[in-house]
Amino acid sequence: MFISFEDYLKDVAADPSLKQVAETIARLSEAAIEVQRAISVGRITKTTHGDNSGQNASGETQKALDVFADEAFLRAAKSSHVLVYGSEEQDVPVVFDAGSLALAIDPLDGSSNIETNISVGTVFSLLPVHASHKEAPAEAFQQLGKNQLAAGFFIYGAQLLLVMTVGAGTRTFIHIAEQGGFFLLNEMNIPVTSREYSVNASNRRYWSSGIARYIKDVEAGEDGPRGRNFGMRYVGSLVAEAYRILQRGGVFLYPADQRAGYHEGRLRQLYEANPIAFCIEQAGGSATDGTTRILNLAPKDLHARTPLVFGSQSEVETIAEYIHVRSA
Ligand code: AHG
Ligand code: MN
Ligand code: MN
Repeated sequence: MFISFEDYLKDVAADPSLKQVAETIARLSEAAIEVQRAISVGRITKTTHGDNSGQNASGETQKALDVFADEAFLRAAKSSHVLVYGSEEQDVPVVFDAGSLALAIDPLDGSSNIETNISVGTVFSLLPVHASHKEAPAEAFQQLGKNQLAAGFFIYGAQLLLVMTVGAGTRTFIHIAEQGGFFLLNEMNIPVTSREYSVNASNRRYWSSGIARYIKDVEAGEDGPRGRNFGMRYVGSLVAEAYRILQRGGVFLYPADQRAGYHEGRLRQLYEANPIAFCIEQAGGSATDGTTRILNLAPKDLHARTPLVFGSQSEVETIAEYIHVRSA
């Protein structure tokens, strides 16, 4: 018999310090169902999801579905316990009248995959708003990632999934429309070792020597210093890479590279790296910027980027060794 998401959230809410977190995640899950429905019918009013509709704060093309998702999650945030809403699709944080939480969110992750029917998702991170933040709520986003109360991501794919943690393990829930809700699928445990790596190899010429050497050696397989063969998977949607790694292990890398705008990598610390890192660590994996734990990195601003390496602990540690050796 499946445990319902509602029953799980009731357990979470039994801890008074997490009651508003549980209620907020329940509202976010309703917005996710709305986004999944919009994706599955393939059109919003006159435009398709894949149509461009401007640029976001990071200067990246905004798709119609990015905007649709942002509006859905903004409404959900406003009608729950969020005081300040920091979104990839909003230049500056949105401050509501009341609330106890700061929500950092990537309303639609993997936008470049929308028109190809490849899984996309939503990534979210919930931080506490302390009394010291009341004058300037956006300062709540200056907290270290290890202060997150909860984090997770929705995947809009063959299944609508929610992967989340409140700091007591990482669980996956599946939406079963006929049953009218989400149900617990499993608790995630990442294998310590792995044979799969995930990187956009077209950026090879821009990488640091340590990363380049690590990838060269895994590609050499049993003919090289690693003495065993590896496999490679790259989807281009962070949520799809993260779920695959939670399911069967592996390591994902989006390193810093020499292209303009990529000197800190591509992924954003507050609403991509921090929440993914929290879920990965709670499933027994590791997440770093190559050498330093993501959850210990001080954020710079809402849209700050960070290099990101996450997955099976042994490979994340091996990558750090390659970087230290090559920089020695
Ligand atoms: P977003 O659509 O929110 O901008 O995120 C896209 C990110 C992430 O999902 C993925 O891992 C990465 O971009 C892929 O980047 P490249 O296309 O440069 O490999
Ligand atoms: Mn993203
Ligand atoms: Mn996005």
